[in-house]
Amino acid sequence: MIAAGQPNSTREGNVLNIAKKRGESALKVMAINGSPRKKWNTATLLQKSLEGAASQGAATELIHLYDLNFKGCVSCFACKTIGGASYGRCAHKDDLTPVLEKLPETDVLILGSPIYFGSVTGEMQSFLERLQFPFLPYADPPSSLCPGKIRTGFIYTMNVDESMSRQFGFDARIALNEFFLKLVFENSEFLCSFDTYQFDDYSKVFAPRWDSEKKAKRRAEVFPEDCRRALEMGKRLASNG
Ligand SMILES: Cc1cc2nc3c(=O)[nH]c(=O)nc-3n(C[C@H](O)[C@H](O)[C@H](O)COP(=O)(O)O)c2cc1C
Repeated sequence: MIAAGQPNSTREGNVLNIAKKRGESALKVMAINGSPRKKWNTATLLQKSLEGAASQGAATELIHLYDLNFKGCVSCFACKTIGGASYGRCAHKDDLTPVLEKLPETDVLILGSPIYFGSVTGEMQSFLERLQFPFLPYADPPSSLCPGKIRTGFIYTMNVDESMSRQFGFDARIALNEFFLKLVFENSEFLCSFDTYQFDDYSKVFAPRWDSEKKAKRRAEVFPEDCRRALEMGKRLASNG
């Protein structure tokens, strides 16, 4: 049982924070953590974005994808079958189904993923397939079947710095996600946290590429600014203006 007005109330697996509700009109903000880690860089930034949204009176929920047993798109095409019961909706049933079913009541969707091998994590990629494919008919000009407007934001975290991220083409990958999110949901914005602190104790892992002192300095000096930007993103997305 989740009680309204109890920040940080928890339920098994996922965390639901109900912010000060403005009656029934509170915006609903859903954040999706695509990192396997529930308290590290990505999750921290997502929490900050939800804090920002909650400060605007929104009801917020954080879902950890790695708690769920689900697959990416299984190419059944039920979502594209003319006259089919699942046209425009994902028909595949697994732990992701209740999450996707909440979308019509969701006003803001904030995604977060670490960069793994130049892209989002496998779980986040699978989520994006199930989220977006049913809303995208094979039609020209492209259009979206998404019912209602959902504002979206995407938070990316990665080990490399900004220039290396560009050098390896991560920005192109991020731009492609933006392209599809805008196509489906009309609006999207993103935030990158570069050069993240990856391990509890750098002396215990073999990682000579990274200078642990520099990483610690960045964690102390730059990550708080990334948190502030995430907070602002949450505020912006959940504001009525
Ligand atoms: C399997 C794996 C692959 C990774 N690949 C990349 C990569 O291609 N580029 C990069 O900058 N960081 C890479 N990283 C580092 C993570 O993106 C980075 O540490 C991130 O901030 C971790 O997010 P988290 O703290 O929320 O788990 C990788 C980490 C793992 C575990």
